[in-house]
Amino acid sequence: MKVEIEKFDHQGRGITYVHNKVCFVRNTLPGEIVDIKITKDQKKYQEGEVRDFIHTSENRIEPVCPYFSICGGCDLMHLNYSDQLTYKENKIRDILNKYANVGSEKIKPIVGNDSPLNYRNKATFQVKDKIGYFEKGSYELIAIDECKIVDARINEILTFLKQQDLSDLNQVVIRVSRYYPDLMVIFKGDKRPHISQYLKLITSCYFEGELLFGTKVIREKIGNLEFSISPDAFFQVNTEGAEKLYQLVRSYLTGNKNDRVLDLYCGTGTIGLFVSDLVSEVIGVEVNKQAVIDAEENKKKNNLKNISFYCGDVAKMVSKLPLCNKVIVDPPRAGLDDVTLNYLLKNDFSKIIYVSCDPVTLARDLKKLSEKYEVVEITPVDLFSQTYHVECVTLLQMRGL
Ligand SMILES: C[S@@+](CC[C@H](N)C(=O)[O-])C[C@H]1O[C@@H](n2cnc3c(N)ncnc32)[C@H](O)[C@@H]1O
Repeated sequence: MKVEIEKFDHQGRGITYVHNKVCFVRNTLPGEIVDIKITKDQKKYQEGEVRDFIHTSENRIEPVCPYFSICGGCDLMHLNYSDQLTYKENKIRDILNKYANVGSEKIKPIVGNDSPLNYRNKATFQVKDKIGYFEKGSYELIAIDECKIVDARINEILTFLKQQDLSDLNQVVIRVSRYYPDLMVIFKGDKRPHISQYLKLITSCYFEGELLFGTKVIREKIGNLEFSISPDAFFQVNTEGAEKLYQLVRSYLTGNKNDRVLDLYCGTGTIGLFVSDLVSEVIGVEVNKQAVIDAEENKKKNNLKNISFYCGDVAKMVSKLPLCNKVIVDPPRAGLDDVTLNYLLKNDFSKIIYVSCDPVTLARDLKKLSEKYEVVEITPVDLFSQTYHVECVTLLQMRGL
């Protein structure tokens, strides 16, 4: 049927209405008239797929990737980069206003990505007779020759892997360093792969948790600090973008050398280590044991003394931690749990810096925190160009200070 796309949803899809029910259509832009077929019909919504474009938007561009219309990775490649940034900034305004009543004036201009293509330092390829990515919303594998958003060295390894016998494997993860020549390949599956000479050029190679050859970790740099990355540890996938994000966090901590700062959900300690020279002490908390081991290693490597790490669930640990006067939180998509929110509300922190990768859970948490803390400003940062995802750094200040 012929429909007009009215606006974007929060996942970069076009919204239209069919028989008064909302219908989401991928790869469409507001103002476009398209012929769609309904692919999913649920009680509250439908999903449609474009069969034909009748009128296209002047904002549409030709996606640089031939797999864009089917691959599950990117959502916005049909928009030029500056329009992608506008979309993300508006989306943050919209969500924060709707769910947390945050005024538009508090949302700062989005910080863009200097390299909107080839920025990812990590790729997870699926393997099943062929190697590639899953189709959007399914486990159907599409073989790909190249991914436009990963570092070019990842594509070189992919080209090589495509000529190899990958039977008995189900996944290959490739991680590269932005500032060192280091490359890590992690094979997953039933049987170790045959390792050829070419792959021996790789710095670090694993089969599942077993180191096959090379170094245990690869090195990465953010600012003047060096970090070790082990196969399963969380590390921001956009190294240059992460530095911009961490600089923003730093800017909120300058000026008081006596500060004691909690870094909750600290991963391999990156944010805490990055700000530790500004304050008297940092305490990091992280549930992943290997990430805490890496954090300790990163502390030693950078010769930093005033930071310590605790391994455990933030909700179970917070009440036992030494009291600090400022907090950084960088939780996973689910946001903060009730115990942690109550801990923040019960104690007096002059500033909370909330780093979030999900604006909806961020809004939910800000609404609760606003009982005691005022949202000063929120800065969206584009770490994931071509996708609908957006990171936000929020500064909250205790009311009445
Ligand atoms: C978004 S990452 C942030 C990592 C780090 N701040 C960075 O920038 O690299 C979230 C981290 O929270 C950790 N995590 C998830 N749930 C947790 C919990 N309940 N308690 C402590 N850490 C948790 C994850 O293992 C992950 O390292």
